[in-house]
Amino acid sequence: MRTARSTKTLGIDRRDFLTGAVGCAGLGILTRHAFHTAQGGSVRALAERLADDPNRPRYHFLPPAHWMNDPNGPIYWQGTYHLFYQFNPSAAVWGEMHWGHATSVDLIHWKHQPIALAPTPDGPDKDGCFSGSAFVHNQTPHLIYTGVSPETQCMALSDDPQLLTWRKFKGNPVVPAPPTGLHVTGFRDPSIWKEGNDWLMSIGAGVRGGGGRVLLYTTRDLHHWRYNHTLAEGPPFVAYEPKPGEKYDAVRAGDMWECPDFFPVGDRHALLVSTQGGVAQMIGRYRDRKFKCEQQGWVDGDLYYAAKSFVDAQNRRVLWGWIREGRSEAAYSAAGWAGVMSVPRVMMPGDGGALDIKPAPEIAILRGQPHHWSELEVSSEKVLPAVGGDGLEIEIEFEPGSAEGFGVKVRRSRDSTEETGISCLRRSRALVLDTRRSSRNPEDFHRVQKMPESFQFSKGRTEKLSIFLDCSVIEIFANGRSCLTGRIYPSGTESLGVALFAKGGAVGVKSLDIFEMNPISHDRLTT
Ligand code: FRU
Repeated sequence: MRTARSTKTLGIDRRDFLTGAVGCAGLGILTRHAFHTAQGGSVRALAERLADDPNRPRYHFLPPAHWMNDPNGPIYWQGTYHLFYQFNPSAAVWGEMHWGHATSVDLIHWKHQPIALAPTPDGPDKDGCFSGSAFVHNQTPHLIYTGVSPETQCMALSDDPQLLTWRKFKGNPVVPAPPTGLHVTGFRDPSIWKEGNDWLMSIGAGVRGGGGRVLLYTTRDLHHWRYNHTLAEGPPFVAYEPKPGEKYDAVRAGDMWECPDFFPVGDRHALLVSTQGGVAQMIGRYRDRKFKCEQQGWVDGDLYYAAKSFVDAQNRRVLWGWIREGRSEAAYSAAGWAGVMSVPRVMMPGDGGALDIKPAPEIAILRGQPHHWSELEVSSEKVLPAVGGDGLEIEIEFEPGSAEGFGVKVRRSRDSTEETGISCLRRSRALVLDTRRSSRNPEDFHRVQKMPESFQFSKGRTEKLSIFLDCSVIEIFANGRSCLTGRIYPSGTESLGVALFAKGGAVGVKSLDIFEMNPISHDRLTT
């Protein structure tokens, strides 16, 4: 069962804010382009602390400090990748949403840029600049995003070739309210594309007790938007029974689809929506500007959210996603940072209609010291003494033998009291991430995450795992299809070992490559 987030910040629950129950109480307006330290220390002291934090990833993108959630408005513009993201520049908790900004020429190494969007006092985005998209109109890059509160759609544009400065439309909000007569649970996260002379915009919404919806708007001039109809709608993806006394939460109930991302895949279309704690993928037909889902599944587990794609110069559809924390708010707030961006993923039409999702090949530029093995046979546990670390890429091709389950362990202590298991299970064909023993700290995340039907186990077929370990982040790709992301916070910084294992029989390892990954910055500040 997926768990929905509940992030208390400045006395405001993130969900309460999003459902409008609490409104803007407590949100302060921030100083533009300056980082404050929540703990009152100097920015330099915070940077030093972050640089020394063994949990802070070294090759995944994350803001210089404080809180990040959704990727926003990714765009490739004049030879540069731009990545924006939901950012709280004051503290490592959700709140006061700005658009952080970073640029890259290779998709892997990033340079932090000044904040792109900040709330305007007395403006329609006075309480926050929520998620949205970037697009180019008349050779000019534009951003479209949700201003709160109430939720309205706003725009900004940039005449700066480097996109470092943005000016908001005078006519904001361009869409001031949901369609008349439609009582929606939310109205946010615009996404935009062009068909002929028309600009089309999808907005995440839903109806209490009636599931999620994506609303479709059109315009030619960007100023006058017309509501057309519902692009897509659907019931909750998982049955949701509120616990006694629990407040109704539209996202948790599946009555609100956040961050819709809609794009063609082969001869069909894909719609990604974030709801009920995860990113759902729907594949289906798009006709008469309406989407009909033919098959559905989850893109990843419940620590991956708000996925957002864009098309790059090579015409690839690249997907970003927000990796949440798996520790308490007290823990991440004290750490001074929260939230990580996934590695860039490339989506393609796969066999059987589902999406293939693979790590972007550019990540290979970070590969350092390689280690290679081939034709191994594993029947219990096989520690690999020559290799270890907290920043690794592991590529394994298994030849399933008689074993019921097999896989690899990482962040393993010598006495194996700490370890994280990644396994392939024969019976359920599931990919499993077992973090029950990832940390000796009882307060940390101890759980088993599963992605069903990730493997074939058909005769003569090998099964491939690609694992990206980066301090507290683990991203796993099974057969370039299933993804599973986890967080671990090992208490022992010496828990760095790697082992192969098999249970209930033997497994063959056709090939195993482990690369020690180079960091993208020398001080974990990712710039
Ligand atoms: C998804 C989301 C969006 C919203 C943003 C606010 O995580 O709730 O719907 O725009 O985060 O930070």
